[in-house]
Amino acid sequence: MSRFEWVSESCRLLQRTAAEFDRTQPFKGLRIGTGIHLEPKTAALLMVLKRGGASLVSTGNLNSTQAETVDYLRERGVEVIGGPTADPAEQDRNLRGVLAREPDLLLDNGGDLFARYLESPWDGLLGGTEETTSGRDRLLPLRDRIRKPLLVINDSPIKQFAENTHAVGPGTVESFMRITNRVTNGRRVAVFGYGSVGQGVAIYFRNVFSLVSVLERQPVLRLRALLDGFEVPDRDEALANADIVVTVTGAPGIVTAADLAHLRDGVILINAGHLPWEIDVDGMLADPSVASVDEVVDGITTLRLADGRAIHLLTHGHMVNLAGPRPLGNSIESMDLGFTLQARCLEAVATGAVDASSCVVPVPASIDALVASAYVELANAGRYA
Ligand SMILES: NC(=O)c1ccc[n+]([C@@H]2O[C@H](COP(=O)([O-])OP(=O)(O)OC[C@H]3O[C@@H](n4cnc5c(N)ncnc54)[C@H](O)[C@@H]3O)[C@@H](O)[C@H]2O)c1
Repeated sequence: MSRFEWVSESCRLLQRTAAEFDRTQPFKGLRIGTGIHLEPKTAALLMVLKRGGASLVSTGNLNSTQAETVDYLRERGVEVIGGPTADPAEQDRNLRGVLAREPDLLLDNGGDLFARYLESPWDGLLGGTEETTSGRDRLLPLRDRIRKPLLVINDSPIKQFAENTHAVGPGTVESFMRITNRVTNGRRVAVFGYGSVGQGVAIYFRNVFSLVSVLERQPVLRLRALLDGFEVPDRDEALANADIVVTVTGAPGIVTAADLAHLRDGVILINAGHLPWEIDVDGMLADPSVASVDEVVDGITTLRLADGRAIHLLTHGHMVNLAGPRPLGNSIESMDLGFTLQARCLEAVATGAVDASSCVVPVPASIDALVASAYVELANAGRYA
């Protein structure tokens, strides 16, 4: 069985949606333009849209396109513009190549397609979807100019708990174990940030018998962490006692060179936040207290301090669940939920179930309920296994 088949067969909700789309053909005669990572899980989504009658013109995102996925999609009749690239200028051309085909619907990731659409709009765009929070923030100020239904997938509560909490959390623990091959039991873990992602990281480290404390700036969330059973010490105490430090705040400079003086010998520093700025790696490497730097094995860098302590850093401070050796990213099931929201939201735009007043708004509650009920039904029937 190929990876594509494994992923596609594991996406039970998408398969069920596809079977319905075979009959209902919500995208019949419509072209959907997509600008989202081209990897096996998104390929499964694109194939479902195709079964719903769509013709597809697609490109990937910067740095994440997989060549085998491009081949797989082309063999199945998807028009893929460009291939893997880390060059922003080439990426810009690829995105414009998608828009040149004047799609009826856009599936956007980061606001790249809708922002460019406004530069030379065409008649007939029905609207579309945006996958991310950063895309939502980019497109929100443009809503008076877009004036089409545009549904933001990340703002669904399902996405928040299924993906951020219950996929990134276990993914971070799995990455720690895969990269270090170390035990988690009894280890003191300090988690910075108790948003939807930090909650998952804290919960899943606790589930593998670590002693977890939470550092959270917002008093209400700090209280929540306490009531959830985590210790909420002050920062200095937590850092001085931690065997493992995980940052998931979205903010820069959470752990810096100034902390080197207080960290325990052998501490392991991990970032799971989006940008590699939460741990100030460059600042640490340049600090005069660092006597030498070893690249130990795939994904582990060790800073030896002049006083003999070792500070270990995973994946150079890049997202640990995506940047290490053989990263798998989020579980297939969590993506199945998110991509079924995508398919259903595009269906709602295509069929006119939402109008232009729904421009840059969260997934409609009726779609959240539909997708949630379908998952629970499959699980209870023993068919989500
Ligand atoms: N690794 C992944 O696959 C993955 C997936 C989804 C999101 N993310 C990223 O994870 C990060 C967190 O996402 P979220 O949705 O939980 O965000 P969020 O904004 O809901 O939560 C972040 C929390 O960090 C807290 N915080 C900020 N600065 C702090 C500080 N100095 N000390 C202590 N707490 C601080 C904030 O108060 C907030 O509660 C983001 O960067 C997001 O893009 C990563």
